[in-house]
Amino acid sequence: MNRKPTSAATAPSERAVSTSAQAPPTTAYIKFSPRILEHLGLAAYNSLQKALAELTANSYDADATSVKITLPDAITNDSFIEIEDNGLGMSPEDIAHKFLFIGRNKREDGQRTPRGRLVIGSKGIGKLAGFGIASRLEITSWKGGVQSLVVIDRDKIENFHTVSDYKLEIQQAPSVHSPGTKLRLFQLNSGLALPTQESIRRHLFRVLPAAANFTICVNGIECSAEDVQGVRHAIAAKIPKVGSVKGFYIVANARQPRPGLAVRVRGRIVKEPSLYGLDTRTHGFFTAEKVVGEINAEFFDPVNPKPPFEVLLTQRATDFSKTLLSCNASMSGRDSFYRK
Ligand SMILES: Nc1ncnc2c1ncn2[C@@H]1O[C@H](COP(=O)(O)OP(=O)(O)OP(=O)(O)O)[C@@H](O)[C@H]1O
Ligand SMILES: [Mg+2]
Repeated sequence: MNRKPTSAATAPSERAVSTSAQAPPTTAYIKFSPRILEHLGLAAYNSLQKALAELTANSYDADATSVKITLPDAITNDSFIEIEDNGLGMSPEDIAHKFLFIGRNKREDGQRTPRGRLVIGSKGIGKLAGFGIASRLEITSWKGGVQSLVVIDRDKIENFHTVSDYKLEIQQAPSVHSPGTKLRLFQLNSGLALPTQESIRRHLFRVLPAAANFTICVNGIECSAEDVQGVRHAIAAKIPKVGSVKGFYIVANARQPRPGLAVRVRGRIVKEPSLYGLDTRTHGFFTAEKVVGEINAEFFDPVNPKPPFEVLLTQRATDFSKTLLSCNASMSGRDSFYRK
């Protein structure tokens, strides 16, 4: 049998040569290649809906009462997406020390916003959502009579050895504009799917907190809920050794396209509706597929991951949802899925 020469035969002498030229380092820094941004942004937010939800969550955390999203009709070389809010805005310092700081935990500044909203963000990566769908982000923000503008270009970052080598210019000018932030996403991914505007509206309304003082408009039309006809029931239960869950479910008059229970934390959907593996064939008249609802389960907050406990939480919440879904009875009536 022919054997290839092993690298071990030549490696020691080569190593000896290279190490004698330079002393081996005794200290080192962790470096981030610019590709990390792509991994974080692309991996987590690779669809338009996910990216918009993430960027709109930032507007919610900034206490905006209105978010205006403008989508193009088609993806072309010149088309862009705009997300503008009337939140607290960012000063040049905020952009430098908060916006551009990856992994910063904003909840260390407080659990609630000045308006009293429970802060959603915690991981300090949500702004990278833009890179899931576009290559160039232009951020304009107004705060304290100053307009700040910063442009982040993925192609330019890639020319640098580490992320920190990329120096960003924060352009500033006095401004009488009211506080807020405008994000523009340019050079949209050519393969990006553009779902219908109506489905984007429903998605955003569904996944973000349904607060009375928070409206999201897509191309001038406010996001709103799907009306589900059926009977609504409240959920309030204590899952032993885990925590409390609150919410509701509707036994709808007809089978639902996305049946099951969704899970919210701090008002934001963290788990899409699921029937938790329930065998729908064992339930007459497709009853299980007529159930839609959601539970608020604050113990799922990603800020407090306790790995072994997390498995227990998931198991208990799953058992709870399964039991609830399998116990439901078919009823009729009319109600609205979401209430403000
Ligand atoms: N629309 C906005 N208005 C005001 N400040 C913003 C806005 N978007 C982002 N910021 C600031 O930039 C920071 C970074 O945002 P990013 O979404 O990356 O992280 P996060 O929201 O803190 O956490 P997460 O990764 O969980 O979303 C925020 O904490 C906030 O200080
Ligand atoms: Mg965020």
